Amino acid sequence: MSAKIISGTEIAQQIREEIKKEVEQLKKKHGLTPGLVTIIVGKNPASVSYVTAKQKTAKELGFYSVQEDLPEDVKEEALLGLIDRFNKDNTIHGILVQLPLPGHINETKILYAISPDKDVDGFHPVNVGKLMIGEARFYPCTPYGIQQLLIRSGVRIDGAEVVIVGRSNIVGKPTAMILCQKAEGANATVTICHTGTKDLAFHTKRADILIVAAGRPKAITADMVKDGAVVIDVGVNRIGMTPEGKAKLCGDVDFDYVKEKAAAITPVPGGIGPMTITMLMLNTVKAAKVAANLV
Ligand code: GUN
Repeated sequence: MSAKIISGTEIAQQIREEIKKEVEQLKKKHGLTPGLVTIIVGKNPASVSYVTAKQKTAKELGFYSVQEDLPEDVKEEALLGLIDRFNKDNTIHGILVQLPLPGHINETKILYAISPDKDVDGFHPVNVGKLMIGEARFYPCTPYGIQQLLIRSGVRIDGAEVVIVGRSNIVGKPTAMILCQKAEGANATVTICHTGTKDLAFHTKRADILIVAAGRPKAITADMVKDGAVVIDVGVNRIGMTPEGKAKLCGDVDFDYVKEKAAAITPVPGGIGPMTITMLMLNTVKAAKVAANLV
């Protein structure tokens, strides 16, 4: 039997409707407009497309949104200066610096410079630490999107064997931290696999919920998946161009074959991507409410 396709596009749309209503209320009742700035350095096509989508969504939901495009060779001090300006700007509640940054800029230094209160990506070490001890202020957007997609699709996380492929700071590690917490929508047994894992298939075949953020197209084949598993594909690999000149994407999971084995699976595109952007909006609303002492 073919798997249920979990539509991130549909679930993200539901959440966006909820956010839009909340933003209207915040404006009407409190004169508060959530403000988001996205900062991009250079013209990496994937980064440009992500940031464009984030800006478009912010505007659609009624946010005040600012886009800062910096040249590839911008000096680290200039970027730090810009972040400092937005840290002090009361109309801005969320600051997002799109990663990766060019090699001459120290990424860690930049992430440290963003005020933890405005760190809607959840990448500042203070927020990473808070997540680790179950006191998170902002969940990083992709892991948060994964959790919400599972919850809103009716997948039981409590007690599940979750196997994550990939140990990045953006996806693998924070997803593990969120799903292993003793909390609603979590409480799973989590295994993180990575390039040093000796027998990857041994682990992936044990997974009730398999989350793949490996960065390699079709890295997970059908023989590596348990019958009836829920498969979340975080991969976004550009594998050419469509005749219309758009990037052709595929995930890290061999979708056509794995969907014949899994109980449920996310597609690429239309799976985790729209959820990540939506969670950024949710975090920005939260940052605005915290700044206005409304939570
Ligand atoms: N690059 C890839 N994913 C992300 C993300 O979630 N946030 C930022 N800032 N950069 C990214």
